[in-house]
Amino acid sequence: MDITIKERRPEDKKMIPAFDAKLGFGRHFSDHMFLMDYSSAKGWYNPRIEPYQYLNLSPAAMCLHYGQEIFEGMKAYRNEEGEIFLFRPEENIKRMNRSASRLVMPELDVDFTVNAIKKLVELDKAWIPPVKGYALYIRPTMIAVDPFLGVKPSDTYLFYVITGPVASYYPEQEGKLKAVKIYVTDKYVRAVVGGTGEAKSAGNYAASLRAQLEARDAGYAQVLWLDGVEHRYIEEVGTMNIFFVKDGVLYTSPLTGSILPGITRDSVIKLAPHLGYEVREERLTIDEVLSGIESGEISEVFGTGTAAIISPVSHVAYRDRDFEVGSGDVGPIAQRLYETLLGIQYGEIEDPFGWRVKLA
Ligand code: COI
Repeated sequence: MDITIKERRPEDKKMIPAFDAKLGFGRHFSDHMFLMDYSSAKGWYNPRIEPYQYLNLSPAAMCLHYGQEIFEGMKAYRNEEGEIFLFRPEENIKRMNRSASRLVMPELDVDFTVNAIKKLVELDKAWIPPVKGYALYIRPTMIAVDPFLGVKPSDTYLFYVITGPVASYYPEQEGKLKAVKIYVTDKYVRAVVGGTGEAKSAGNYAASLRAQLEARDAGYAQVLWLDGVEHRYIEEVGTMNIFFVKDGVLYTSPLTGSILPGITRDSVIKLAPHLGYEVREERLTIDEVLSGIESGEISEVFGTGTAAIISPVSHVAYRDRDFEVGSGDVGPIAQRLYETLLGIQYGEIEDPFGWRVKLA
């Protein structure tokens, strides 16, 4: 399939925002988007790059009623030499295909889709901040578009990709590595095994909003979720996976079925041993975590995600108590992983795993 390209006229191009801490996350969108349609009769068809625009959807479109929506989060990085890289982009599309399978949506051709994303990024490369810690965020999205109100999988879908320059996901980080505070809830659950927790689907995020609001009101950046059955085992943060450094060993929750299989999580699991740290994918209970933080056995806590990168955690709050991790500062292991990961992503250091995909 050939991709048709309709460029925005030079006089209609949007203003590119300043690449500074005020940029925030997810507020600005670049000039173009990729779109492609699907019907069960034709498969995927009409792949095209067009000016960024509102979608023309029926108010009865099924995605708006029953949540048949999946998405991905990836980034394009540009260094001071002007080189542009994607990071493991095929992993995002493979994960999108697993999400699609869970939500009974059509799968994408991995190579074709990565290539389409490369073309889109190339066209809007002026929007990629040439500043470390900043990037062009890429949001592949798939929605069910049949105008129908019966509950069943749609027969038609739209896949589209929008992009936009971003700084840190957490406003308090202002484009730098700064620790954030998280809040553990045992009142709400994010996902249960057998549900859609491991798919990257809108409904998982909608389900998290009430708890997130309560965490924000209490002064915390995000919610740390416990397992949905016993409310004891650490799962993830929703916007990131979570790691604990206990007696020098990195622990993260195994992929039990209710946790998002993060690509940054996977990268840290592979990168950390390369830097000399042991990693264990083992379940920790909230009691083990809190007593470990109190005794100093747990010296660091940090989250991992495409948007969150490596986000150190300074405080963990649970049932009216607030536990400071170490001295509340960025820990040395989080710092080293952050620098190494960014070094690879921005093409500054050797890429021992072949994760970078160079665009220019
Ligand atoms: C990402 O890290 O890219 C994500 O998709 C998480 C999102 C909630 C910002």
